[in-house]
Amino acid sequence: MRVSDERMRKKEWTIFAVIIMLALSLYGVFLMLDMRAIHGQIEDEKIRESLGERPYIIMIGEVEDHAYWNLVRDGGKAYAEAHHMYLHYMGPENPNPNDQRDLLRQAIDIKPDGLIVQGISDTFIPLINEAIARGIPVVTVDSDQPDSNRLSYVGTDNYAMGQAMARDVLSHVETIKAGVITGSETNDHHQLRLAGIESVLNESAQADILSVAVSNIKRVNAREKTYQMLRDYPEINVLVGVSALDVIGMTEAMDVLGREDIYVVGFDTLKENLELLANGRVDTLVSQQPYEMGMRSMDVIRTILDGHDVPEMIHTESRLVRDVTQ
Ligand code: BGC
Repeated sequence: MRVSDERMRKKEWTIFAVIIMLALSLYGVFLMLDMRAIHGQIEDEKIRESLGERPYIIMIGEVEDHAYWNLVRDGGKAYAEAHHMYLHYMGPENPNPNDQRDLLRQAIDIKPDGLIVQGISDTFIPLINEAIARGIPVVTVDSDQPDSNRLSYVGTDNYAMGQAMARDVLSHVETIKAGVITGSETNDHHQLRLAGIESVLNESAQADILSVAVSNIKRVNAREKTYQMLRDYPEINVLVGVSALDVIGMTEAMDVLGREDIYVVGFDTLKENLELLANGRVDTLVSQQPYEMGMRSMDVIRTILDGHDVPEMIHTESRLVRDVTQ
């Protein structure tokens, strides 16, 4: 009896000790997060102090480090340097709309002089509107939210370029069995490109879209999804890539399966994509101007800060490229 009593007590103490330890470690994590936030704020205040009169602009892209977004960032930074402004670029480590929205939330609380944000979905609208209501000018870049109160959009006409790609396929392939790899299921600009492609191909009696898969803008996913697609639908003779790294993954999967008979068209004239075009692995690329998007969006913010009106929509150049020397 006494022995079992003692055991019970021991057990209770162990449970108690575990609970205390858990509570302490949870508190530790909270403390760390809080410290990071405070540290971030202090860093931010330091930056602001050192800026003097220079406007402090925050740009939020789809990812922190990505071949496409680095160009947008660099264009913005070059503009900032030349025009006595400061640009802080931010993006999630991996593409993730929730993390991207969290960054926007944090950016609004910092109250910068201007915000440039990739408006990937309508879940961003309340935050964009809040920023505007708090007096922060907001410009969308690369992907727009026209129903928000943002002051301007700088980027490609995504729907029109989706249509242009599909017309390119129609004029080069007689009977089309297409597979599409898109960057995301939820990003509005990818959806617009896809809608543009479908609007043209679905109207044509010579074309069928057999499958659509998502790469989450990663080349490894594009490769795996294409591989599976070509296994499931060996009759596919056209591959369409909707985001920047899709054609790279698509051609890698084609190599594995020894498929050379596929017409490939895809977004973006990044270096590696241009090499694929030059080697005849890709037939057509859609060019965009990420560097210019960075510069122009900063220029729009500058114009707003100077008290002038800005156009609601600035479509940067985008065209079909079939020859690297063009
Ligand atoms: C899109 C960007 C995207 C990138 C990803 C581009 O085509 O415009 O929004 O982040 O592809 O690879």
